[in-house]
Amino acid sequence: MEQRRLGVPLQHLTGEAPFRHEVLAVGPGVFIPRPETELLAGWAIEQVRTVSDPTVVELCAGSGAISLAIATETAGCRQWAVELSDDALPYLHENLRGTCVDVVHGDMAEALRELDGQVDVVVANPPYIPLEAWESVPAEVRDYDPHMALFSGDDGLDAVRVLKGVAARLLRPGGEVGIEHAEVQHEQIVTLLAAGGTFDRVTDHRDLAGRWRYLTARRTKVSP
Ligand SMILES: C[S@@+](CC[C@H](N)C(=O)[O-])C[C@H]1O[C@@H](n2cnc3c(N)ncnc32)[C@H](O)[C@@H]1O
Repeated sequence: MEQRRLGVPLQHLTGEAPFRHEVLAVGPGVFIPRPETELLAGWAIEQVRTVSDPTVVELCAGSGAISLAIATETAGCRQWAVELSDDALPYLHENLRGTCVDVVHGDMAEALRELDGQVDVVVANPPYIPLEAWESVPAEVRDYDPHMALFSGDDGLDAVRVLKGVAARLLRPGGEVGIEHAEVQHEQIVTLLAAGGTFDRVTDHRDLAGRWRYLTARRTKVSP
């Protein structure tokens, strides 16, 4: 209780975080999965279920919450989870042990080039908080979730700009990408994904609180 009073997240004290039907191992060094991300995972699961023998990639995997949900809620598939952080990696390995998911340690920008043009679903909850919003982020988040998991450039969209290019090369024509984002990024992220013609059916979705929460788009046949 004293630790909680000082602001240590409950999940760091118990070492666990629930996500959909699973409980993940978490602790210092890895982002604590949030309930709002369950919606993005649910969207990915629905997409995966529409494809026979699906190939799925999660970028910015953290604890592996989304990948674990997909692996346990769909019938076997080819799946990869990509994470850059050395500190998050042990949690990712532990949470995905015994599943069909292959863990890739590295920068999403260069990851999985051998799968270019073959992936059915790309899903990501990237860092998306603007650096300038530092002061407004609650101390419990700022002091305990890894900075690499939270902040992404002046407008918070640096990682999404990279992610757009990675999804464009990984996805087969007609493949789908889903990306979580902040409510205030609604217009910017729709404009960003729609620009250039590599994606169509660009659609933003609200969470259960009515806030814009994740964007989905379909890979077109136009070269990136
Ligand atoms: C907001 S957390 C999301 C974690 C997990 N997917 C979830 O929803 O709980 C973002 C994650 O992206 C990782 N990350 C940041 N930049 C990355 C990059 N360039 N390549 C791969 N992973 C990256 C961070 O280390 C962090 O684990």
